[in-house]
Amino acid sequence: MNKILVTRKLLRSNEEKISRFFDAKLNLNDEIYSQNKLIELSKDCDGILCSITDKFDKKTINQLSNSIKILSNFAVGFGNIDLKAAEKKKIVVTNTPDVLTDATAEIAMLLILGAARRVSEGIKSVKDKNWKWSVDFLIGKQLEGSKLGILGMGRIGRAVALRAKAFGMQIHYRNRSRLKADLEAGATYHESIQSLFSVSDILSINCPATPETKNIINKKTLEFFSTGAIITNSARGDMIDDEALVQALINRRIYAVGLDVYKGEPNIYPGYLNQKNVFILPHLGSATKKTRTAMGNLAIDNIVEFFDKGSCKNRVN
Ligand code: GLV
Repeated sequence: MNKILVTRKLLRSNEEKISRFFDAKLNLNDEIYSQNKLIELSKDCDGILCSITDKFDKKTINQLSNSIKILSNFAVGFGNIDLKAAEKKKIVVTNTPDVLTDATAEIAMLLILGAARRVSEGIKSVKDKNWKWSVDFLIGKQLEGSKLGILGMGRIGRAVALRAKAFGMQIHYRNRSRLKADLEAGATYHESIQSLFSVSDILSINCPATPETKNIINKKTLEFFSTGAIITNSARGDMIDDEALVQALINRRIYAVGLDVYKGEPNIYPGYLNQKNVFILPHLGSATKKTRTAMGNLAIDNIVEFFDKGSCKNRVN
């Protein structure tokens, strides 16, 4: 039986499943392991079921035991793993696409609504017992009739588009390449981020974190937006230069932001915390029982498939 290190606590049904298929080294206390501990604990293992909180950089990967053949990441994103270093060491890296698309798109809509309708201020005023209904109290922005810019029109971006259309929004997008008409579904393609940002009343960031998208929201690109635009991010914190975005909020260039992801999570750039027009969540994109169960099952199935067939369809390196 192959031995698998499971770096974080999983939902019970997933822990039961992985224990049926493998000699699973579980993390029942859900400790976040240091890189040294990951190396130490996986010494006698054949694979690792890891998560976005585990940093498998080049140095860590190079020190992994030669017995490790697969890193099955419990996520669709894999920015926590140096894919090239893994490939060089002949370690297969897999992810969990598709199963979290709907849950993440729901959170993207929540960010859009939360930022546009001043939900943080609303909740605070209720908790502070400091409100009364009045005609001009906490007036926000309406989604219906507004333009939603989607940066990254992959599975999640398209699921956001579908939902946003039901709110009466017009969909614009930028993607590495233009989608075929059936996937585009009436959305307007933009050749450049300048063109996309300049028409977006609201931006939803749904692209992967890559060297090209790192800090794609920065002092210069923030100037592309019309005054009063809203920026939301349900993908990865890497895409935003936080200092520049907070400054744009202070200057009222940007009306509000909605964020579920941050650079250096669980830390958050402190400047956001003093701004009232910031709607923030603690990385809840895929956090439903249905989705987390499906992600766990898929991460396990990826390992089973790999040891059965020597390959895996969800391989990303
Ligand atoms: C979650 O953030 C994921 O990438 O799956």
